[in-house]
Amino acid sequence: MSLVNGDLEAARRAIADQVKFDILTESHEADNEKARQEVARCFISDTITGRIPTKEMYLYASRATLGDDVYHEPSTLALEAHMAKLTGKEAALFLPSGTMSNQIALRTHFKQPPYAVLCDHRAHINTYEAGGTAFHSGAHTYPVIPANGHHITVEEVEAHAVLDHNIHYAPVELISLENTLNGTIFPQDEIVRISEFARKHNLKMHLDGARIWHVAAETGTSISELCAPFDSVSLCLSKGLGAPIGSCLVGPKDFIHKARWFRKLFGGGMRQTGILAASAAYALTHNFPQLPRVHALTRKLEAGLEEAGVRITSGAETCMVFFDPSTIGVSLPELVEAANQLPNPIKLGGSRLVVHVQTSDEAVEDLVALVRRLAEEKKAAGFVYDAAKASGQGRQNIYVKVKN
Ligand SMILES: Cc1ncc(COP(=O)(O)O)c(C=O)c1O
Repeated sequence: MSLVNGDLEAARRAIADQVKFDILTESHEADNEKARQEVARCFISDTITGRIPTKEMYLYASRATLGDDVYHEPSTLALEAHMAKLTGKEAALFLPSGTMSNQIALRTHFKQPPYAVLCDHRAHINTYEAGGTAFHSGAHTYPVIPANGHHITVEEVEAHAVLDHNIHYAPVELISLENTLNGTIFPQDEIVRISEFARKHNLKMHLDGARIWHVAAETGTSISELCAPFDSVSLCLSKGLGAPIGSCLVGPKDFIHKARWFRKLFGGGMRQTGILAASAAYALTHNFPQLPRVHALTRKLEAGLEEAGVRITSGAETCMVFFDPSTIGVSLPELVEAANQLPNPIKLGGSRLVVHVQTSDEAVEDLVALVRRLAEEKKAAGFVYDAAKASGQGRQNIYVKVKN
């Protein structure tokens, strides 16, 4: 039965009443300000900065173009052109996340199974992408444990890369490296050696360069030189750089053309991305130059922890430091809880501390002071560090997460 005239109008008004939703609350502005203050004392991850854009970034983003990115949005196209030029590659593609960028890169490289990717066992594609490499590409992964505990070497790549035609194995078609990996810098000369091995055997090279910005800022090596040994590179804009959303995949023109196809297929074809591209541009201009300060703050944190007697399990090469507080008689959950209970709480996620552009000097000082206080309390309670028990524990930057 169809409604007519007055009845129809009344029904429409009733539905509009059900549909409408005012998301802005009275406390909205104050809540955002509180979130900006909290993030200054949060060491859980640098991805968290992306959730707290500054007012200046918002303002800049609001002036972006208003196109549709499935049909090539102007600000997003400009960002892609800039990223291609910066990395020395032919083309770039804007994507919603680093995970999608890596996974689409792999999917685009791989053609006809069986095949495999070789990577460090700690690589994001191996550990934190929900098994996406097997799911999306049907690829096997050979995860390599570096003997030096820091980065895989060309000798290890040679030893683990299945290249022959033995039908029992999935042949390696792609080597995927990560730089930084858990905040550590992959030596560029080793990357070049691995890429020479890859070229010799007709293997593709992908870089998860989510935090390649930190390598450039720390070593003074240009982004294009860091990317040169690779066929494709994924760079995140939302981590250390502090943009709200987004990654860029760069590579040859035909590769990016195909990747754009996969982006649509994966459901990652976004529409009004101008504001995101402009936020990324703001981050590139204003946040990248802050990374040396971030790294210096990370080193200050590391030095403070070490002085307090905490064992550093992976040193501050860029924006991360991994630690083990058992040397002062404190467990990770105990420390996380004590930091949470401070009058001005500090948020910790576990054995990894991440410093970012919004971390305050005060937060670092307060965390070191807390660790020092706990160490003194444990000592007063009779704790004696057993060095023999800890000897033989190499530096291992495997993240031990603690529930908050
Ligand atoms: C090295 C690395 N690659 C990829 C990603 C995935 O990024 P996203 O969280 O945007 O999917 C992360 C996330 O932290 C990362 O650390």
